[in-house]
Amino acid sequence: MAIVVTGGAGFIGSNFALDWLARSDERVVNLDALTYAGNLQTLAPLANDPRHVFVQGDIRDRALVGRLLADHRPRSIVHFAAESHVDRSIHGPGAFVRTNVEGTFTLLEAARAYWGGLEGDAKRDFRFLHVSTDEVYGSLGKDDAPFTETHPYEPNSPYSASKAASDHLVRAWHHTYGVPVLTTNCSNNYGPYQFPEKLIPLMIVNALAGKPLPIYGDGMNVRDWLYVTDHCSGIRRVLEAGTVGETYNIGGWNEMPNLQIVHTLCDLLDELHPNPAGSYRRLITYVKDRPGHDRRYAIDARKIERELGWRPAESFATGIRKTVQWYLDHPQWVADVQSGAYREWVAANYGAR
Ligand code: NAD
Ligand code: DAU
Repeated sequence: MAIVVTGGAGFIGSNFALDWLARSDERVVNLDALTYAGNLQTLAPLANDPRHVFVQGDIRDRALVGRLLADHRPRSIVHFAAESHVDRSIHGPGAFVRTNVEGTFTLLEAARAYWGGLEGDAKRDFRFLHVSTDEVYGSLGKDDAPFTETHPYEPNSPYSASKAASDHLVRAWHHTYGVPVLTTNCSNNYGPYQFPEKLIPLMIVNALAGKPLPIYGDGMNVRDWLYVTDHCSGIRRVLEAGTVGETYNIGGWNEMPNLQIVHTLCDLLDELHPNPAGSYRRLITYVKDRPGHDRRYAIDARKIERELGWRPAESFATGIRKTVQWYLDHPQWVADVQSGAYREWVAANYGAR
């Protein structure tokens, strides 16, 4: 038995592959283009593991995807591969349309052909699980109820628009062609192996380097945080027991303004890695806001709990402590991902703020 994972060298996909193989002997065929966000070092523990087959390639390569499905006969595809950073989507939206929209289309077409050729139990049991985001629902006001699965789609950034488009394609491939799909819409993840362009790892690595901690706008935008292995367990549960054609919101019931997150990180670093120059809070710097910055996200995760019995295992307090400790323990991983391309991104995004 095998599953195909796309984007399994990125943050969530690599955590998923590592977790999956820690719990099962079912082979993971990992298709990843190794963009700036993909990192084979994260998968080093699986380097000599015959249960992990890594294939460097683009999800838009229809011939390659078709060959992989024919060769490995997976029972499921778990689709993580995407361009995932909102700020990058503002600087260069084209790659988001190409990977998130065209790439998902190509995978769906390959999955449709493969599934169409299956028979019996293999056909009945096949699943295409599409990993998506709460950002497709747009922005909430202060007193609005959290996003349920029936919240209207109101994406506001090129990233969320491209993810919304991919969600619609997945839905249509089920309704029109019967492809057995599942979609998950998750809130902000944090944890080990997250590329230091996203809020939490960026703040940790900047603090350790004595660099400014750039807060967009007034720092009061709210996100709903989930520890990455809880996202992975939610996906496993949906794959195992989700109803075909349904969507499931995954979240940690952990809404917090950005400033509070950064204060928490500074306080943890003050405790675990004190700096004689004083508290890391001294590095906090307000910078120009992100254009179209969504004010608040919050996930109503009652459906996945009620129907599938899933709840997160980590609290924010336990998850964020583990995360800070992980970055303190892995300076080489951080140094290696901060290549020339990373430095160019930092200059492009923060230079003009
Ligand atoms: P990431 O940017 O860390 O990783 C994306 C991976 O996809 C990288 O390994 C990259 O090399 C690969 N990739 C990109 N384009 C590709 C292509 N054309 N073909 C093959 N591989 C390609 O992203 P992440 O944070 O791990 O997010 C994974 C998925 O989860 C995405 O679909 C994202 O929209 C979704 N999601 C992320 C979060 C979050 O907080 N990070 C929350 C909810 C949903
Ligand atoms: O909600 C799920 C989404 O969460 C995922 O779909 C995306 O892939 C993921 O990138 C994330 O999007 P955000 O835009 O919420 O994450 P980011 O870490 O970029 O920013 C979190 C908040 O912190 C946001 O309000 C912007 C703010 N921020 C971010 C950076 C990088 C800052 O204030 N300063 C910064 O330097």
